[in-house]
This record gives sequence, C-alpha cells and structure tokens, in this order.
Amino acid sequence: MMQRKLALVVGIGALTFLLMLRWEHVITLVNLMSSKRPSAEPELRKGTITPIPGSRHLMVSAFKDHRLGGAIRVISIICKQERQPLYCVLCANANARADAMADGALNQCAFSPAKVDMHSESFGFPFVTSDVLCMSPALQQATHVSITANQNANLTFLTIQNREVKESFKYNFTVCISNLFQEYNNALQFAQTMEVYKLIGVQRVVIYNTSCGPDVEKILKYYRKEGMLEVVPWPIDKFLPPSTGWKYDLHHGDMHYYGQLTTLNECIYRYMYQSKYLLLNDIDEIIMPYNHANLENLMGTLQQQHPNVGVFSIENHIFPDTQFDDSGRIRLPQWSSVPGVNNLEHVYREPDRKHVFNPTKLLISPRSVQQTSVHSTLKQFGLFFNVPFDVCRIIYVRVPLQRQLSKDQLFVDKKLWEFEELLISSIDRALKESGML
Ligand SMILES: *[C@@H]1O[C@H](CO)[C@@H](O)[C@H](O)[C@H]1NC(C)=O
Ligand SMILES: *[C@@H]1O[C@H](CO)[C@@H](O)[C@H](O)[C@H]1NC(C)=O
Ligand SMILES: *[C@@H]1O[C@H](CO)[C@@H](O)[C@H](O)[C@H]1NC(C)=O
Repeated sequence: MMQRKLALVVGIGALTFLLMLRWEHVITLVNLMSSKRPSAEPELRKGTITPIPGSRHLMVSAFKDHRLGGAIRVISIICKQERQPLYCVLCANANARADAMADGALNQCAFSPAKVDMHSESFGFPFVTSDVLCMSPALQQATHVSITANQNANLTFLTIQNREVKESFKYNFTVCISNLFQEYNNALQFAQTMEVYKLIGVQRVVIYNTSCGPDVEKILKYYRKEGMLEVVPWPIDKFLPPSTGWKYDLHHGDMHYYGQLTTLNECIYRYMYQSKYLLLNDIDEIIMPYNHANLENLMGTLQQQHPNVGVFSIENHIFPDTQFDDSGRIRLPQWSSVPGVNNLEHVYREPDRKHVFNPTKLLISPRSVQQTSVHSTLKQFGLFFNVPFDVCRIIYVRVPLQRQLSKDQLFVDKKLWEFEELLISSIDRALKESGML
C-alpha cells in the first residue's frame, strides 16, 4: 500500500516537472513492458472507437501526416467542455512487423503532451471532431500510439497508418459514405446507385455502419463479398447519444449526425494513399458527369484546366420522389418487392432558386485536404473550384424542397436513362445475388 502511494507521488512529481518544460522538448522514454504488473501491459484496440482514459473523449484512428513533417494525427471526438491536458504515448515496434505485438515488442516508447486541434465545425453540438497531434522527433519510427488524460491508466494502442508515402494508387475514384443509421432500409436505391457508380468509373465505396435494415444488410454483404465495398463498423451510439439531425438547436444528442464529420475525415486519411480521388457524398446522391462519359474523362479535363485545384465542389440538384415518369417504362415488376426508391422513375428536377443557397458536395484529391466539413473543406493545401452545373452535378432523388411546383414547372432530366441497358441487367444481377429477387 505504502509503496503504491509512494509511486503515485513520484509519478505526479515527475509529471509536474515535465510539464514545466516546453512541450516539444518533453520526451521521456518509458519501458512499458519492464513491469510485470497487469496494468502496464499495453493492449491493441479491437473496435473502431476507443475511449481516451481519464476523459469523455474518444479516439478513432491514427495516421502519419507527411505534409506536416511526419506528425501523428489521431482522429478523435473531443468533448468541448473538458479541457484537461492530453498525452501521447508513441511506441516503436521492435519487430519489423507493425501489427505483431508479442510480449516485449513495444519496448521503446516516448511520452509527450498532445496538441488538440478542434475542427471549426461542430454545428453547435458538445462533442466535436478533432485532430490530436503527436510530434516526437525521438520516435520517427513509431508504429503505435495511444492518447490518454491519465498517466496511470491501462493504455490501448492504435496502429499508425500511412507510414509510407505512395505515388500510385489502387483506386482512381472512391466514394466515402459517411453513415448508415436507424435501420436504413432503402435497398433498391442503394443497389441502383452502386451500379451507376460502376458505370461512371467508381472502383471503391466505403460505408460507416452504425445500423441498417435487413434488406440493405443483404445488399451490403453482396457488395462486400463482390469486392467493391468496404464496411467500417461505426458503433458511435455505444459511446454517446448521437443526434439524428444536423443542428444542435433543433435536434437532441451529443454529436452531429452520428459523427458524420468524424467519418468523412477518417475516410480521407484511410484512403489518402489508396485512391487518387474521393467523392464525399451521401448514400442517396450520385455525382454525375453530364459532359463526359465518365469520372476519369471529367477529371482529366478539369484537372488539366485547373492543375492546382484539389477540392472540386459539385452542386446538389433535387429530383422529387413525388414526381414520376408518366410512361411508367422503368417501373419494373421484378423490383416491386424490393423496398426503397426507384431512382430511374424520377426524371423531374427542381429549378434553382435565385436567393437560396444550393448545397454542394465535394470531389477531392485526399492529399490536398487536411480537415473537411460536409459542404466544404476546413483546411486544405491546394485551391478549390466550383464545378459548373452543366459539367457535373449531383442527382439527388428525395422529398421535394419546392413542394408547390407542378410537373410542368420542373425540368425533365433523363441522364440516368443513358445507362438504361447495362444498368437494368446489372441491378437485376445484384438483387438476385443478394437474395432479394
Ligand atoms: C488495468 O487492468 C487491470 C487488469 O485488467 C485491472 O486490474 C486494473 O484495475 C486496471 N487499471 C486501471 C487504472 O484501470
Ligand atoms: C486509373 O487511371 C489510370 C490513368 O488513367 C489508369 O491507367 C488506371 O488503369 C486506372 N486505375 C483503375 C483501378 O482503374
Ligand atoms: C451494420 O451494423 C449492424 C449493427 O452493428 C450490424 O448488425 C450489421 O451486421 C452491420 N452490417 C454489415 C454489413 O456490416
């Protein structure tokens, strides 16, 4: 008992001493494995979300940022009211293999104060997406990191990703879909959207899943098995009460839209060296080139015209789900038992309103972005460009925004029908293989 107390006093003393130094100089090497006490054994994390000990904050994943001199960025969810100091524990794996953490493998660790960079956008909610930054010149070779508010806590380590810069990428176009929640079961629209993506040149789709309905579950499993889809578990509701809406004054909860901003930012870093471009849109939106056959041609042109642009913003246009194509050509009997919206039936588009802001979504080069919000980036390295709506726009089939407009006041926009032949057969195949038909 006495010994423990003594250890605590010595620990606090050492900490105070360290805090008196400037933080970039505060580096102390600790040997986590030297003691056989169970509380000293580091653990590798299992889920996507991990509590930061001694706080209400959460950490998500860790990435080396080569644009910031190799700083380690831990994407986190920070409770704005709590301002206690946080600490980084960076460890280098003794083995060459990063993920092997046998006894004694994490034997060199550096302890330093963390720098917390809260994103400027939180829509008023008490928890905000943040970057916890760790810079330790002594440990450029770090393979694992842990964040803590309490030095004596049992630590959980995250693997540091993006340790190498890559110049060529596995995918050219990846769609990041921020969150699925509340038993979302719009299966037909999702399968249609995935098949349209394929035809315009998307090779990968990433979805953060809090929960979904039984039919969307079947479709997700099909695309994951088929190889196009990565499903990232996102059990945010197990850690805090998330909001189902976007604005704190209007919607209850501790965090904007199930942590949409956290997942969007996580996706940027997860795919930084996997994909040339990322499309940051919702599950029911399609970023569609109108003047080019596919995204490859579109971006070839745009990037040639605007070589220093890394953020392209694309206007959203509403196709009311209350207005149907009169002919009923694409109301296929085999789809009638599949729950969800049939995109191909909704060919009427709402006109722009002069004095109303047209929300945009983003098509980015992930390596030029540091932090993003939903409709614009928050910190980026390159320039940004508003893509004209006749070149590329978002097809968004949803409840109308201008409810009073009759059919003849809307524009006919049959862009999706250009893909009809290939599209219908591939949608049928996907539904069949998912066990829906
Ligand atoms: C650390 O983990 C051990 C074993 O699971 C447990 O007995 C101990 O109470 C934990 N310590 C703290 C500070 O949570
Ligand atoms: C990406 O684009 C390049 C250049 O246009 C092309 O050579 C390559 O095959 C594309 N990669 C994929 C996965 O389609
Ligand atoms: C999505 O999350 C829910 C809730 O955790 C889970 O039951 C379901 O299996 C997940 N779906 C996929 C495809 O991972």
